[in-house]
Amino acid sequence: MGTEELWSLKAPRIVVEPPGPKVREILEAAGLPPSAYRHPLAAEAGGIWIRDPDGNIFLDFISSRCVVNIGHRHPRVMEALRRQMDRVTHGWVEERHKLDRELARITPGRFEKRVYYALTGSAANDCALKLARWATGRPYVIAFAGAFHGMTYGALSLSSYKTWMIRGFGPNLPGVYHMPYPNCYRCPFGLEHPDCDLRCLHYIEDYAFKSYLPPDEVAAVFIEPIAGDAGWIVPPDGYLQGLKELCERYGILLVAEEVQTGFGRTGRWFACEHWGVEPDIIILGKALGGGVPLSAVVARAELHERDGEYFRHGHTFNAFPLGCAAALANIEVIEEEGLIERAERLGAYLMNRLRDMMERHCSIGDVRGKGLLIGVEIVGDKASKRPDVEAADRICAEAFKRGLYIIRMGSYGTGVLRVAPPLVITREQLDEALRILDESVGAVEI
Ligand SMILES: Cc1ncc(COP(=O)(O)O)c(C=O)c1O
Repeated sequence: MGTEELWSLKAPRIVVEPPGPKVREILEAAGLPPSAYRHPLAAEAGGIWIRDPDGNIFLDFISSRCVVNIGHRHPRVMEALRRQMDRVTHGWVEERHKLDRELARITPGRFEKRVYYALTGSAANDCALKLARWATGRPYVIAFAGAFHGMTYGALSLSSYKTWMIRGFGPNLPGVYHMPYPNCYRCPFGLEHPDCDLRCLHYIEDYAFKSYLPPDEVAAVFIEPIAGDAGWIVPPDGYLQGLKELCERYGILLVAEEVQTGFGRTGRWFACEHWGVEPDIIILGKALGGGVPLSAVVARAELHERDGEYFRHGHTFNAFPLGCAAALANIEVIEEEGLIERAERLGAYLMNRLRDMMERHCSIGDVRGKGLLIGVEIVGDKASKRPDVEAADRICAEAFKRGLYIIRMGSYGTGVLRVAPPLVITREQLDEALRILDESVGAVEI
């Protein structure tokens, strides 16, 4: 199938119940049971589609975990890669500096910035953690319960997605304190917004700072402006602004972890812009390279120097030429195709349709998000909000059988469907995805 044909497909195509014979053979050779087939094995991908070796074509409703915001193998990125491959694939190239300027331009904050590169979101988190401690000379760091920041030791220590991230690996990096994330559907304080007066925010100052955590020794607060794997939890208005003010009061750096929420996904370049907050450091990954591995830390330039010394950090494949070329093309595509506005517009439509589904289905307890990043929380009982992870898994399996690739996530024992299609999805394709999702939820509720 040609790339153009694949891009313009209107509905998934299931020619044999997955896993088909070719995938079964591959699974068997890899020592995996057929039941392991819950993610499409890609023989070819283009736009919102992934074709597996048996010819089944799946709609990638999660953008392969928020990586392909502009679609799989966008022609502009492919062209930029080819041009770069013909010239230089390793070494110091001008594109790196172009990308520095582009990232400084599109990230919030009109101050001088410095960019550090890595290849993964985890490594970028580690870099930001080192930078925050080094630049402030302070040892402690605040992160949030339920957060997923990655698998390297620094990122792991900032995380608290699930206990398997900690068990057997400890002790993790000392000095990281996890605060309750603002979660209005499952308020950690059992309160209702706005009567709660943002207790979750005041907890930091009123309890942590007055008992176990001296604020003048806190280097940074690491926060996902919309919690990711925890279940796409959107903080109430005022929380992020309040957190920024708190940081300013105590000279603490605010680090926006936008590995998952960046690059137009939420209807803004970066999610923190929804609340007009300018972080001191912003962490980027996933969609940055348009499908090519690249991550970055964009920080206030002044953090780079302390007492005549410079912050030391780097990797062998730092800012590698293919990644930089792809990231530059990615930014162009997002701007020229108006994908941020599109995410906002289609996101509003998607949100309405999903909220309508929530009215009709007893297993959908909550629908929340911004732009084309929406969490659909599956519950066993709406009144008690009892989570139902097993039902969430079964919905994903039903959807997969029908050619819709969706997965579940969620901290605190919850099962949340992760709705995050590529921003290039059309309204028609979105309708088809929703039809399948509706049918899959219905099939599990029977
Ligand atoms: C918010 C967030 N930060 C960091 C990471 C880690 O990125 P990587 O897997 O590229 O190391 C992830 C990965 O899912 C993530 O969702």
